[in-house]
This record gives sequence, structure tokens and C-alpha cells, in this order.
Amino acid sequence: MATNRTFTMIKPDAVANGHAGKIIDHITQAGFKIVALKYTRLSNELAGNFYGIHRERSFFGELVDFMTSGPIYAAILEKDNAVADFRTLIGATDPQKAEPGTIRNLYAKSIDANAIHGSDSDENAEIEGNFFFSQFERF
Ligand code: RTP
Ligand code: MG
Repeated sequence: MATNRTFTMIKPDAVANGHAGKIIDHITQAGFKIVALKYTRLSNELAGNFYGIHRERSFFGELVDFMTSGPIYAAILEKDNAVADFRTLIGATDPQKAEPGTIRNLYAKSIDANAIHGSDSDENAEIEGNFFFSQFERF
């Protein structure tokens, strides 16, 4: 059964380009409620652990370099069918393939600098939310 929470990061490219405010507005206008929010910067170790599933992939080094290149916003979001609806809202990993009007279509430049992360399953949404927020920060 789908849960009603997902996890997101507004990635360093979107923060550096000044798009974070517009992206947060886009998310809330789409019906997602922000239940936890943090402005932070990932270390190499944290970024490597977060994307540990991709450790053996050719792009892993670039992914960690990019995700540590500047500050991010991390958030837990709530909405019915949150994980699937949020993946639809952000669009395909490669912004060239993202549907018009999606966040990656509007704000991302490349498959590496693709503006935003969205959890890909309920299980990962829970793990990723717990990775960034203590129990007191995600009541
Ligand atoms: P994310 O986890 O960041 O929301 O992205 P995603 O689910 O759409 O894509 P995923 O397969 O989880 O990949 C994580 C990030 O790795 C970079 N990537 N590069 N060069 C490539 O073929 C490639 N594939 C993935 C992307 O920046 C992607 O967001
Ligand atoms: Mg992913």
C-alpha cells in the first residue's frame, strides 16, 4: 500500500541558480505539504552513503562531487500517493526526457545537475527521511 510521505532534496545546482524558492512553491502548489525542511551541505561520506546503491556505477564519483558542491534543501513531504505523484512532478532523470512543466524540465540542465531528488519507493522514502531528520524533526 502506498504511504503518504516522500523525501526530496533540492540539489546544489538549483540552490546555486536561485531556483529553490520557485521549486518549493511548485511543490506546495501541487498539493504536497512540507512536514520537515533543512538547509544543509553534504560531506563526501554522507553523499556516498546516501547514493550508496550507485557505488559501482561509472557516474558515482561525479554524482558525489556534484552533490557536495554546494548547499541543498532536504525535506519530507506529505500527500496521498506521495512517492509516485512526486516522481511524476519532478520528471525523468534526464531533463531532456522530462515532460514539459515538470520540475526537471523547467529547472534542470543535465542528467548530472538535475535540480531535484525524489525517493523511488515507500521504503526508501522512510530510509532517506530518517537519514536527514531525527525523530524530533519529523514528528
Ligand atoms: P535521484 O535519485 O537523484 O532522484 O535521481 P533518479 O532516481 O531519477 O535517478 P537514479 O537512477 O537514482 O540516479 C541518481 C542520480 O545519479 C545521476 N545519474 N547519472 N550518467 C548517468 O547515466 C546517470 N544516471 C544517473 C543523476 O544525477 C541521478 O539523479
Ligand atoms: Mg534515485
